[in-house]
Amino acid sequence: MKATIKDIARHAGVSVSTVSMALSGKETRIAAITKQKILESAHTLNYRRNHLARALVTKKTRTLGIVLPDISNEFFAKIAKGIGYEAKKNDYRIMLLDTNEDPEQDVVAVNMLLECSVDGILYIHAAGGHSHNAAACVALCQTEGIPLVLLDRVPDAISANAVLVNQEKGGYLAMHHLLSLGHIHIGCITGSLSTPSSRARLDGCYKALHEAGISPIPQLLAEGEFHADSGYAHTQALLDAGATAVFAFNDLIAYGVYRYARDKGLRVPQDLSLMGFDDNNFSEIMETPLTTIHQPTFSLGVAAVQKMMQHLNGSPTTIASTIFEPRLIIRKSTGGAP
Ligand code: RIB
Repeated sequence: MKATIKDIARHAGVSVSTVSMALSGKETRIAAITKQKILESAHTLNYRRNHLARALVTKKTRTLGIVLPDISNEFFAKIAKGIGYEAKKNDYRIMLLDTNEDPEQDVVAVNMLLECSVDGILYIHAAGGHSHNAAACVALCQTEGIPLVLLDRVPDAISANAVLVNQEKGGYLAMHHLLSLGHIHIGCITGSLSTPSSRARLDGCYKALHEAGISPIPQLLAEGEFHADSGYAHTQALLDAGATAVFAFNDLIAYGVYRYARDKGLRVPQDLSLMGFDDNNFSEIMETPLTTIHQPTFSLGVAAVQKMMQHLNGSPTTIASTIFEPRLIIRKSTGGAP
């Protein structure tokens, strides 16, 4: 027979309500010695909370759904770490779905999570979907009365709770850094321009160029995708257009540029300056450590859950965005213009 809370109460010599509070995982006024005795009894009796039975009573599964575009990209994995850390602190578990940057999978994933009766959803939309996929997901959650928090890619047209980084400033910092090194012909390989993060970054680039009195040259702009192969594929065209530096819109794209430069016998930064965006762990330990823009990914995940908890704990909240600041991280992959 599976041990119950009553068995634990009898074994520990306390009331059932004291056991229930001690095992809730929440802060309580129970004396530490009493809580320890209860936990020891639960261990002795091999007690395991019946999650489904509890959900039937509370109508809550204490589970948060997460929809991410690509868990193999460290940027999203670190956000998931932050979400998991803060969810655990609040005695919630997480259910993560990866849409593989396929916009058609966004609504499929949200529906799947709603069918699993999650209590809230944290969502980063896939590239390529424009805002109508994100709007459909917001509408689904509103219909079901499930709180939704958007992260990182937040379409302007959508009014929803959100946690994001000031992407325009990030793009500005990157372009300004390369301009400050004397580069004039700076190539950009963006992520999909269907993502708000890419578009805002490009706006930041144009702002820095305008301040420097430099007109953008179309041949120095390549719309790519957020992966290394895209960086590899677009580099030659930028070199043909006279680029002496490349700003890759994430570190994975920068790795592809690196690989192309190496295959062509070009030295970074002597022959080509290179910078990325996100600040992946690998970027610091590369043979020529990558100059990049740091995004506080773990903090993004933590803040998204904190925003979600305000809703789930009934605190009155208005729709609001929490915006984090990017940071320029100067390493060895950028140098003076030749
Ligand atoms: O690396 C993935 C990119 O897409 C990041 O720069 C992040 O901002 C996301 O939008």
